[in-house]
Amino acid sequence: MLTLKGLQNSWVKIIIRNNKKMENFQVISDAYHKKYGKIIVDLGCGSGNKPETIGIDVLQLSGVDYVANMEEGLSFIQDNSVDEYITAHFLEHVANFEHLMAELFRTLKPGGTIKIIVPHFSNPYYYSDYTHKRFFGLYTFDYFSDGKNSLRRKTPKYNTSFQFSIVSRKLVFKSPNFQFLNLIKKHFWTRLFNSTKFLQSLYEESFTSFLSCYELIFILEAKK
Ligand SMILES: C[S@@+](CC[C@H](N)C(=O)[O-])C[C@H]1O[C@@H](n2cnc3c(N)ncnc32)[C@H](O)[C@@H]1O
Repeated sequence: MLTLKGLQNSWVKIIIRNNKKMENFQVISDAYHKKYGKIIVDLGCGSGNKPETIGIDVLQLSGVDYVANMEEGLSFIQDNSVDEYITAHFLEHVANFEHLMAELFRTLKPGGTIKIIVPHFSNPYYYSDYTHKRFFGLYTFDYFSDGKNSLRRKTPKYNTSFQFSIVSRKLVFKSPNFQFLNLIKKHFWTRLFNSTKFLQSLYEESFTSFLSCYELIFILEAKK
């Protein structure tokens, strides 16, 4: 039977566990700071984590420094403590996306940055992966932005509690499986459609159905 004492004990255990997690992460980040002079965190790093970054992943793969389910946020990371996040092909796996964005904002130092690589919604391989939970387009991060560096189309604001500045955004065209296509996509389409904001907007509004884009790269800065 669930008693008040039992409930209190469970809460105490959760608080101790979270404090322990925070302590563990703090030990790792202190060591990285001492060695590299700043804190760079790779979210959903898989086994491809670089030596100078703290890799977080839900799986204990080689190169992962800290195991956590980031659907639950980043409670183990202190406020204003991270210089830079990088994340490649991870955010599309997150259902609790707005909460994670708020956590990234909370934990970044003022002026800290996030480099985000995500599949574009027109990427044909996107739909084969049943673990993908959300789509990304040219405008996804405008919904979290202060409006600087925006495109022709303006997005509504659903969230007012935190804001990033969009430092840059890029459409990346490539073909991982056909080399001749890869050359054309990388060297022609990527250059052409990123040459102006007008062409970026025009591509996404008018050409996605016959020319797919592989991924998007954003750099966001925490405005605090
Ligand atoms: C497609 S892989 C990308 C790996 C690496 N970033 C890369 O570019 O090769 C996605 C990674 O996100 C991790 N991941 C998925 N959901 C997660 C979650 N809720 N919390 C933490 N990591 C998660 C997976 O374990 C996997 O390593």
